[in-house]
Amino acid sequence: MKNPIDHLSGLFAKRKPFAKLAQEFCSYLRKTFPHYAWVGIYMIEGGDTLVLKAWDGPEATEHVRIPVGEGICGLAAREERSVVVDDVNKDPRYLQCFLRTRSEIVVPIFAGKKVVGEIDIDGDKPAAYNETDRLFLEWCAARLGATAPG
Ligand code: SME
Repeated sequence: MKNPIDHLSGLFAKRKPFAKLAQEFCSYLRKTFPHYAWVGIYMIEGGDTLVLKAWDGPEATEHVRIPVGEGICGLAAREERSVVVDDVNKDPRYLQCFLRTRSEIVVPIFAGKKVVGEIDIDGDKPAAYNETDRLFLEWCAARLGATAPG
């Protein structure tokens, strides 16, 4: 099996339509990394709403549209930075999707200097995400941003 960076580089190089790329990306990450329990991609629409475009996980979330003012997802978009939450139960900004979720990482997708979307990953264990996850997902987000529509 190819290493994940080689596999993803191949996926990003194929110039697929963004919706297809986003779906394959979410499914590949979840299948490859057991601590990525739920993987989603939200894109900003109308300037102030994050809209779920692709996801892979054991169940669907009811949060398919999130105002940029809400949740950990909104925080990452507003502050234009990656956000790691080690214990979602201790963070009042957290919007609950799944009872089993204990930690979360959200990484903005930039097109140029503008945030156009984000990668959102939920974990079933506390403090599931470290600097390696952040750097890896920021690498992925940069490539997704290069393919993202408008
Ligand atoms: N927990 C997120 C909402 C999205 S679900 O995790 C899929 C938040 O706090 O913004």
